[in-house]
Amino acid sequence: MTRVKKISRSANGSMSYLLQDDQGQILNPHSVGVGLEYPGVGPEISFMKETGRAEFYTATDEEAIQACMRLSRLEGIIPALEASHALAFLDKLVPTLRDGAKVVVNCSGRGDKDLDTLIQRGMPSSLC
Ligand SMILES: Cc1ncc(COP(=O)(O)O)c(C=O)c1O
Repeated sequence: MTRVKKISRSANGSMSYLLQDDQGQILNPHSVGVGLEYPGVGPEISFMKETGRAEFYTATDEEAIQACMRLSRLEGIIPALEASHALAFLDKLVPTLRDGAKVVVNCSGRGDKDLDTLIQRGMPSSLC
């Protein structure tokens, strides 16, 4: 079983969430966005979760790839696959918002580093 647990890992005692198994062994996560392949988050993000100041959602590899291709097609911007996970979440978020609501997505990173992956996953060369 995989779970996320808050534990103290640093010498100064800061708390953060880590992906680990039932025995407490840290797991190697997978993501098509290689920058997300890290088993933990920092203490600031952990604190925001603890205090309800941030909410966290997931997107699959395929959802992120489709969102990346959509932004490339519609705007001519190739987002990094890491940020594409946030773009994928818009499909779930937007229908819940009132008319006229505005959403800001930080397109951190650069999708050109992900082109090999995107082409392998079917991105048309006209979008590259
Ligand atoms: C939040 C976030 N966005 C984007 C990226 C990708 O950045 P780049 O495309 O510059 O490698 C990373 C990489 O770790 C990241 O953590």
